[in-house]
Amino acid sequence: MKKILLISMLFAYAYCKVFNNCELAKNLLNYGLPKDQIGTWVCIAFKESSYRTNVINYSSNCYGLFQIREQYWCSPGGNACGLPCSNLLDDNIYDDVQCVKTIYAEFQRIRGNGFLAWDTYPACKDYNTANSYISNCHL
Ligand SMILES: *[C@@H]1O[C@H](CO)[C@@H](O)[C@H](O)[C@H]1NC(C)=O
Repeated sequence: MKKILLISMLFAYAYCKVFNNCELAKNLLNYGLPKDQIGTWVCIAFKESSYRTNVINYSSNCYGLFQIREQYWCSPGGNACGLPCSNLLDDNIYDDVQCVKTIYAEFQRIRGNGFLAWDTYPACKDYNTANSYISNCHL
């Protein structure tokens, strides 16, 4: 067990990427998130993971930059995003963003606001707060 943990930690470490806010903002825009939401997403990513791709919260079983919950969204726990949770830890966030879109759409449908899937959203909701995360970026 100890050995497995150590190996998985090394694995996660080897693939870790730490974004800066503008690099992340550009990636999110390129991967299809709406321009008027980018500040909110960068704020959420900061609050969830401090822009680090390899974060796992073992008490909530949440993975990666956006701390996506295994229970519903990634396998083996869930499959709504159609990917293994380990794919949410590497330095390629294209698949993370596609999963974020799936989660957002589902919460938009059931709660009327897609952002409500993230516990950190209330702290990022204010327009000026969200905007402050990307105000130095040329998007
Ligand atoms: C991990 O998840 C728990 C339960 O949702 C939460 O209370 C805690 O703040 C999270 N830890 C971190 C470091 O985000």
